Amino acid sequence: MFKKKSKTQLASQKTAAVSLISLLNSRSTIAEQYRTIRTNIQFAASSDHPVKSIVITSSGPSEGKSLTAANLAIVFAKSGKKTLLLDGDMRKPTVWKTFRLSNQKGLSTLLVSPDDIADSIQKTTIDNLSVLTSGPQPPNPSELLGSTREEVIMDQLTRLFDVIIVDMPPVVTVTDAQIVASKADGTILVAREGVSEKAALLKAKQLLEIAHARILGVVYNGVDSANDAGYYYYSDK
Ligand SMILES: Nc1ncnc2c1ncn2[C@@H]1O[C@H](COP(=O)(O)OP(=O)(O)O)[C@@H](O)[C@H]1O
Ligand SMILES: [Mg+2]
Repeated sequence: MFKKKSKTQLASQKTAAVSLISLLNSRSTIAEQYRTIRTNIQFAASSDHPVKSIVITSSGPSEGKSLTAANLAIVFAKSGKKTLLLDGDMRKPTVWKTFRLSNQKGLSTLLVSPDDIADSIQKTTIDNLSVLTSGPQPPNPSELLGSTREEVIMDQLTRLFDVIIVDMPPVVTVTDAQIVASKADGTILVAREGVSEKAALLKAKQLLEIAHARILGVVYNGVDSANDAGYYYYSDK
């Protein structure tokens, strides 16, 4: 399932529902890698700098942001933390497909209407894991994400959950991830072997720094380890 693919094959992949590795086989090496990322995030937290809201982004499309976000949310939920996976990618949302949920209500509808937040959150079949889908695509995602209403929503969500994993669009192409990362407790940059360009990765890091995002680390997706078992590892920037 996690075989290396050529650049052309990778480029032709659509943002289909991602595989939930840590759900399917919690004893797998990959699940273990996600747990290591979770532990590293927990180490990054302190009483002065709690890490409750975590943005997942990358430089470009199809680098594994949604895959990483979904699996990280699962390992947090499995550790007993009340976890929310928030689909902040209102341009190419995939979380609702991954978890087979409705996307009629979600972040976009909450941002434009005074709906009750709790009514828009959906439970999943995994204990402790809830999802707030993207909602229908609005014409102006960046504006909505930069609004005061967004801050109010995030504030309420942080009161309702222990951890919020926010799946965002690529940081280099649109400003959405910068906007949300500037207000989140931490950001994880995903890079994918054979897809991410070094220059784009550096640009992504620079854009996040400009936004004063707290970069917790980089997840390399698709990196072969020596024994060919692990495909993810976490590095401290
Ligand atoms: N390491 C990998 N090996 C194989 N397929 C992968 C890997 N990482 C991501 N994919 C697949 O590539 C596609 C894009 O991944 P996704 O997480 O949706 O990317 P993004 O959210 O960054 O656009 C999905 O179909 C996903 O399952
Ligand atoms: Mg995605």
